[in-house]
Amino acid sequence: MNSNASSPLASQAVAPVFWLTGLSGAGKSTLAEGASQHLFASGIKCILIDGDVLRAGLSSDLGFTAEDRAENVRRAAEIASLCANASIVTFVSLVSPFEVDRKRARQIVGDKFHEIFVDASFPVCSERDVKGLYKRAAEGKIPHFTGLDSPYERPRSAELVIDTMANDLKTCVDMLVNYAYQNGVGD
Ligand code: PPS
Ligand code: ADP
Repeated sequence: MNSNASSPLASQAVAPVFWLTGLSGAGKSTLAEGASQHLFASGIKCILIDGDVLRAGLSSDLGFTAEDRAENVRRAAEIASLCANASIVTFVSLVSPFEVDRKRARQIVGDKFHEIFVDASFPVCSERDVKGLYKRAAEGKIPHFTGLDSPYERPRSAELVIDTMANDLKTCVDMLVNYAYQNGVGD
């Protein structure tokens, strides 16, 4: 619900928030981009809130301790809530490794929150090593690296699990797009 009932936004439908969590390199950004391009092409307004982008700007004061990640997740959830209240379909791609932070994000966003676990194991992500981070982390150059010296708590209450090891990219994007259409997109 929008907080200001006199605002023109108050009459708009709240859009869903698709919260993608998983290890670095699991495929969160690739899938969020693929799905949003698909929806854009059908005239649906979308936004991507990506961890790397957030950390380059709004969260540039934060590192990767548990406390900083909690604050980063909280900020992303607050932005996602604002976007959803403006009827913008929102994809969030954040490692968001801690169950307690994801639960809080769900509370902030409300019942339009959908947790999507983008599942790829540490060895597979390490093999992909899209940005060379796993190599640097193995050399001890990145403290608090998720899956190495900082834990990733696998979701226990995800609405959708996308296994990017067992399914090719197109299949995974289709899974996300189909899920979006079945859960509030285009209503
Ligand atoms: S979190 O935990 O949700 O606050 O993290 P997030 O904002 O998604 O940021 C993750 C991206 O930052 C890069 N990076 C690291 N990831 C994990 N652990 C450590 N220590 C770390 N240091 C830098 C990495 O590029 C992550 O982006 P993705 O897109 O997940 O690869
Ligand atoms: P994240 O945002 O989780 O850090 P990225 O999307 O940046 O991950 O990187 C995932 C990498 O894995 C990309 O290079 C992508 O092409 C590759 N990849 C391989 N198979 C898949 C798949 N089925 N789904 C998504 N990404 C995949």
